[in-house]
Amino acid sequence: MRDLAQLATPAAADAPLRGRALGDVDLLEDAFVLCEGSSVAAVGRMRELPPLDGDVVEVDGRGLSAVPGLVDCHTHACFLGDRVEEFALRAAGASYEELHAAGGGILSTVRATRAASEDELRAAVERHRDWMLRSGTTTFEAKSGYGLDRETELASLRAIAAAGGIPTWLGAHAVPPEFDDAAAYVDFALAEVLPEAAAIAEAADVFVERGAFGVDEARRYLEACVDAGLALRLHGDQFTELGAIPLAIELGARSIDHLEATGADGVQALAASSVVGVLLPASALFLGRQMPPGRALVDAGAAIALATDFNPGSAFCESLPLVCALACTQFHLSPAEALGACTVNAAHVLGRAGSIGRIAPGFQADLVLLDAPDWRHLAYHLGGELVTAVVRRGELASQR
Ligand code: NIG
Ligand code: FE
Repeated sequence: MRDLAQLATPAAADAPLRGRALGDVDLLEDAFVLCEGSSVAAVGRMRELPPLDGDVVEVDGRGLSAVPGLVDCHTHACFLGDRVEEFALRAAGASYEELHAAGGGILSTVRATRAASEDELRAAVERHRDWMLRSGTTTFEAKSGYGLDRETELASLRAIAAAGGIPTWLGAHAVPPEFDDAAAYVDFALAEVLPEAAAIAEAADVFVERGAFGVDEARRYLEACVDAGLALRLHGDQFTELGAIPLAIELGARSIDHLEATGADGVQALAASSVVGVLLPASALFLGRQMPPGRALVDAGAAIALATDFNPGSAFCESLPLVCALACTQFHLSPAEALGACTVNAAHVLGRAGSIGRIAPGFQADLVLLDAPDWRHLAYHLGGELVTAVVRRGELASQR
């Protein structure tokens, strides 16, 4: 790729970028990226471009800018059906929690997902992956959690892996109707699903919330998951502060995700810990709720990441550029902080910061070409079609 108006990449980081460092972006003007096979071989200014042999395929970057392939570290991309009926009911005033309590919400997607074959699950994840790819996402995590029985949870994890996603076992997403309470369901999930789920998934996740799982059940579930070799993630403080942040810190979780309801104490606790706060502003927007305290977290020195939360109920949104725009407009991250949060920091959440999330020699050749001479259009162009091409592992994977 040559003659790029700009190339922007977050700074190198052995640990998630926090505080002011989150906005450290290396910016090159009139730049090139040389890829060899699936990796980046060299990056620099055009005047430093080494002589190339005849086999090199050249991509003209004039008037365009490049950023690293985006990393979506929190999606629920394995589901069948949709919730457009509920969306219309919510538009007319019903709340997400009311629909959930009435057996709709997550459980209505569970019904549709349980009815699918493994091939249908895989096709659904591939369809959603391709939507994400066109918006610049070259690496995605996806959670199970719409099966909540042995067969569908394991099939979901296999479907995610087969579609190229990084699977997380969200075995504790909701209590399915065949169980009387959360404790009985967790007993089942740990005895019957965890042993095989741990062989496919990289991490486990739990929805800590009223009407889902309390802190004690979440602790029991997560402790068993860590013993089985899984990294830990939590959905916490989405609607209520129930103590998910202290639990995440106590158990050394990789991340705690949502945080729309987090107050000042939670911000300080997270800042003093190594747990990454994954912020999901598309979900807050889609449910008409307050935004997470993103600015306060960064200013306090916490490590944050940004993700879509792509799912059929609370965030039907596959676009990380739109998430960056929301982070800048709604809680005042700078475009550079937003870029770091959905590249290098998201890669840390997924345990892959040594190979993805930056444009640097030796890194996977994952690049997003933006149809703008200034890379900050990534966050500036609100919902526009600015991703003009996506390179994944050195191959052109999407082009407008
Ligand atoms: O992260 N909060 C729990 N889980 C998802 C929503 C899932 C759904 O509504 O289907 C979330 O927002
Ligand atoms: Fe989620």
